[in-house]
Amino acid sequence: MTPSVQPASPRTARPRRYLMCRPVHFEVSYSINPWMDPGKPVDTDLAVLQWERLRSLYLAHGHTVELIDPLPGLPDMVYAANGATVVDGRVLGARFRNAERAAEGPAYLRWFREHGYADTRYPDHVNEGEGDFLTTASRILAGRGFRSAPDAHREAERFFGRPVLGLELVDPRFYHLDTALAVLDGDEIMYNPEAFSADSLALLRRHYPDALLATPEDAAVFGLNAVSDGRNVYLPEPAQTLAAALHARGFTPHPVDLSELLKGGGSVKCCTLELRP
Ligand code: ARG
Repeated sequence: MTPSVQPASPRTARPRRYLMCRPVHFEVSYSINPWMDPGKPVDTDLAVLQWERLRSLYLAHGHTVELIDPLPGLPDMVYAANGATVVDGRVLGARFRNAERAAEGPAYLRWFREHGYADTRYPDHVNEGEGDFLTTASRILAGRGFRSAPDAHREAERFFGRPVLGLELVDPRFYHLDTALAVLDGDEIMYNPEAFSADSLALLRRHYPDALLATPEDAAVFGLNAVSDGRNVYLPEPAQTLAAALHARGFTPHPVDLSELLKGGGSVKCCTLELRP
């Protein structure tokens, strides 16, 4: 009898549609998070090259990448994840906390209106898109503490008609939820336990007992700022322990070098807005 062969990975990738913004105007000219140091040089050409590699990787895996035109004077526009939240084809626009990024909200919303999205809303409350709203199979996880307002959580819950679980961030280095937590597949997540308040950590432990927990070292190199298609996990290259742990769970990690974009306080996930049909 032939012994049955175990598949290399039980994981299945689902083709995704992403929105990205080429960082041709990227620079660090102000500081709104601890990663940003306007005194430190940024190589914009290298940022574009690294970003192009991420985009090519998505395309090579069969994903669709839509592009929004970058606007001069909005260096953080490359972090497309912050531009909106799209669930069931409905678009909740972003309203930024900081004046430096305020114009990005309407710019992203305009893109959606011009690209056939009929159900769009400019929000009443501050929310920084998928920076703070991460969608799992059964709910939307929502960050607060630094950027998105608690009222925005209720606004999202009403608009999308999905339950929202609010989580409080406490470490300024992990100022958006997507710097501290990533959705891997369905209701499977990974996160950095040190980024959350005690109450929120208790909630995470209760709802996600099987979550993959990142080490402080992997969290510190932005390892949680990752994108998953259900099988392939695109994550910052220095997060090696995390990549090994993902591999052990049956995922295929794809390390990506986005060192220039890290100088703005963002990496893989920040550059990627998922357009959920
Ligand atoms: N410089 C940007 C800011 O502080 C970075 C945003 C990163 N994006 C993200 N989805 N975490 O707002």
